[in-house]
Amino acid sequence: MTTKVEQAQVIRGLEGVYVSTTELSRVDGERGRLFYRGYAIEDLAEQGSFEETAYLLWHGHLPTATELERFSQQLAQSRRLPARLYCVLYDLPRETTPVTAMRTMVSALAAWEPNADATTPEAELYHARRLTATFTTMTAALHRIRQGEEPVLPRDDLSHAANFLYMFHGREPSAAAARAMDTFLVLYADHGFNASTFTARVTASTMSDMYSSVTAALGALKGPLHGGAMEAAMRQFLEIGAPDNVDAWFERALKEKRRIMGIGHRVYKTWDPRARILREQARILASESDEPQWFELAERLAERTLQHPYFQERRLYPNVDYYGGLVAYYLGFPPEYYTLLFAVSRIVGWTAHVMEQHADNRLIRPRALYTGAEELAYTPLQAR
Ligand code: SDX
Repeated sequence: MTTKVEQAQVIRGLEGVYVSTTELSRVDGERGRLFYRGYAIEDLAEQGSFEETAYLLWHGHLPTATELERFSQQLAQSRRLPARLYCVLYDLPRETTPVTAMRTMVSALAAWEPNADATTPEAELYHARRLTATFTTMTAALHRIRQGEEPVLPRDDLSHAANFLYMFHGREPSAAAARAMDTFLVLYADHGFNASTFTARVTASTMSDMYSSVTAALGALKGPLHGGAMEAAMRQFLEIGAPDNVDAWFERALKEKRRIMGIGHRVYKTWDPRARILREQARILASESDEPQWFELAERLAERTLQHPYFQERRLYPNVDYYGGLVAYYLGFPPEYYTLLFAVSRIVGWTAHVMEQHADNRLIRPRALYTGAEELAYTPLQAR
């Protein structure tokens, strides 16, 4: 919605406004397509890997086998935490939500990292690897400590996705679980100028450091209209309880004008392509789990929205979080970790955007159209 005042145009939420260029990802909202540096996410998810995707976003081209091998080793060797960070994790109050804990941990990590403030390309490539690798270690350690268990140390011989599940659950994942985790991490890695990425870029545009940009991005991601939706979508399914309850719940939600979590998108006006891929991963995991009813419930609810005129008229379709929450549930993650799971993948995009911003920086400083009072006479205190 725009307000025309004095020839200035105010475009709320910057909806549809192009504020910069990027070579990292292209989101085609009308056709429901997503590309990372020109490659379709379907190809990266089905034939590539998280490591390959991170390399592509940071370096601008797909790696050769030798480059990928070396990169994967470097990432694996960046997984260990300074011992002091485990003390911070133990000291955090139990009720601190996982994404809030990570906001603290990123700042703590920076305090122990040499050259954390350095913004040269080489330094930022190191920081991007370090943050991406340790996001999994810190997330897993937080969970184990909250379970009253010892944190599991990272292994260098497992892929990023498999090692994350290994550290989180304390046992090696099945091939299907590692595959689903890898696909999840590929699909959430980058997505244009979404709110958290734009927050990272605004922070980076002041020539602030990567850790500060990532901390700011985590704060933006925490909101229920952005990264909080994956958890909200899964909790919605748990609230419905069983596939047979969907119809009555849906009618009530419509009447109460409730937002159906995981449905709708600012850019996609058709299926979110990531939702299509995660839907198939959720189908596979559901078929191998003893709780297949959640997938069936989600399918039935999606069907109701797709068939309803209210959603059709507004072009509201399932987005990444609708099935992302289901995949996370079947991978054994508690719902309170879902926003943090989003960040465990999106850290690659955030760091790539910080590097892109610093490579050709322009301070991001838009205008606000003042509509407040003007030219008021000052009334002295004793006269008020
Ligand atoms: C992510 O930007 C990104 O790329 C984000 C992301 C990423 O990878 O970074 O893709 C990840 O954040 C995905 C979105 C996750 N959020 C949710 O699933 C929350 C539920 N969805 C909505 O809140 C909403 O669809 C948004 C926030 C996602 C987008 O909303 P917009 O573009 O601001 O649209 P809007 O709020 O102005 O809604 C337009 C209309 C309104 O109805 P009317 O005023 O026309 O009567 O559509 C309705 C809204 O009430 N509407 C919904 C709805 N979403 C929009 N009605 C019911 N259920 C919904 N989910």
